[in-house]
Amino acid sequence: MTKVRSLLYMAMMTTIIIILGLIPAIPLGFIPVPIVLQNLGIMLAGVLLNGKKGTMSVILFLILGLVIPVFTGGGMTVSVLSGPTAGYVLAWVFVPLLIDGGLKRFKKTSFISMFFIIFIFGALFVDIIGSIWLSMYSHIPLPTSLISNLVFLPGDTLKVIVTTLISYKYGENFKLLINRID
Ligand code: BTN
Repeated sequence: MTKVRSLLYMAMMTTIIIILGLIPAIPLGFIPVPIVLQNLGIMLAGVLLNGKKGTMSVILFLILGLVIPVFTGGGMTVSVLSGPTAGYVLAWVFVPLLIDGGLKRFKKTSFISMFFIIFIFGALFVDIIGSIWLSMYSHIPLPTSLISNLVFLPGDTLKVIVTTLISYKYGENFKLLINRID
């Protein structure tokens, strides 16, 4: 029964990620990577579930993407993982583990320290891995790729603020509830 509930929470998180993917992307002319809202769901998986379950919910998302179009704009896992945005998506798998691990290091986490942990692992880490892949895939110099990814920082920072607010207010209660059914 607890396993079933555990799966249910992961499925709920996966559903949130998919729903966020229904919001249209903003394409950018100068790189083949759009601004999306779906990565907000990935960050939330790290603060609402524990690292293991959060990462499992991202993996479940990728598995579902093998058969249905779960990505923003209707992309599927195989096509996305063989395209210019693969680096970001591969990094997504580790985001919940890294955010949860980072938050656990600080017992009495202040809003500011939570913000920085979520920013480093939920935004910077993803954008750097994404830039490295993009540079190799599109044959553009790494510094150019990294600089062009600065365009994501304002939007990603807003997503980090939303995630931090939710984590600050509800994260621990939610995690306690989830861990009770571990
Ligand atoms: C896809 O659907 O192909 C994945 C898109 C990845 C977009 C990345 S996630 C981090 C950065 N922030 C954004 O808003 N877009 C990029």
